[in-house]
Amino acid sequence: MVITDDRFKILAGTAHPELAKEICTFLDTPMAESHISRFPDGEIDLKIQDDMRGGDVFVIQPTCPPVNEHLMELLLLIDCLRRASADRITAVIPYFGYARKDRKDEGRVPISAKLVANCIVAAGAHRVLTIDLHAQQIQGFFDIPVDHLYAKPALQTRIHQMDLQDLVVVSPDVGGTKLARAWARALGADLAIIDKRRLSGSEISVENVIGSVDGHDVLVIDDMISTAGSITEAARILKDKGARRVLLAATHAVLCGPAMERLAKCPAEKIFVSNTIPIPSGGPASLEAVTVAPLLARAIARIHREESVSALFEY
Ligand code: R5P
Repeated sequence: MVITDDRFKILAGTAHPELAKEICTFLDTPMAESHISRFPDGEIDLKIQDDMRGGDVFVIQPTCPPVNEHLMELLLLIDCLRRASADRITAVIPYFGYARKDRKDEGRVPISAKLVANCIVAAGAHRVLTIDLHAQQIQGFFDIPVDHLYAKPALQTRIHQMDLQDLVVVSPDVGGTKLARAWARALGADLAIIDKRRLSGSEISVENVIGSVDGHDVLVIDDMISTAGSITEAARILKDKGARRVLLAATHAVLCGPAMERLAKCPAEKIFVSNTIPIPSGGPASLEAVTVAPLLARAIARIHREESVSALFEY
């Protein structure tokens, strides 16, 4: 996939340079040069070295931990591009942080996802390209076009190779049912749902499985693994209920707090994640990352050529 157009530019913040490089390789395009550093007081200083005037620029920056640092870098890069007369700025945010606070479900709490969307638009982004938002409605928080991709095709290729029998796809909570149902349909599998209760940001309690898993291979699907409480408790109860092989798959490997420790003790045979976020080293042997770089590269090429991106929206 080669783009021979001087206006086409790819730029990256410091959140995930490996993914940005992989995308550049797929597009046979050099990465635009920038210098990002910190002032002595911790404020971010940056300068884009290449000429951006009239450019169709794609800024690659997942807003993964440290979330505030990466988000601020993204905002400054967009501001910088706008002031450098870029023609169109697309924020490529493979993982959109702050997404879980997407509604006001009690008094005196912010709707953080909306505020972050407002900041990205106010900084000067013209479009957003992202993968597996925590909730579909977050697209509506942006008053600019959002191209929302799914990591499912990338993960599914790998899962097909696992030769799973009598498969049941499991959602680790009621909120993930739609995603799990799409997977179940695609794999010709049955669906089960775990009755999960969140006790705190990192503790959950799991009491029941709705649906039968006894004697079946099971695949647990989630949009993210954060502290890994949800997915490892799911694996535990599925084993208790008689599941034969247990595999886990999630798009975003946030892997914070006790996540690595929990994954290491988890009875799952395989844990597939995508590389929307850099995967820290030291994970268990069962943890395997699947790349989303070809998916993002194809979407970027289509956006640049003003072609439809919907062919890539396989859910
Ligand atoms: C919840 O709504 C999400 O889909 C994930 O299940 C959750 O964020 C995972 O968090 P943790 O890994 O900390 O249990």
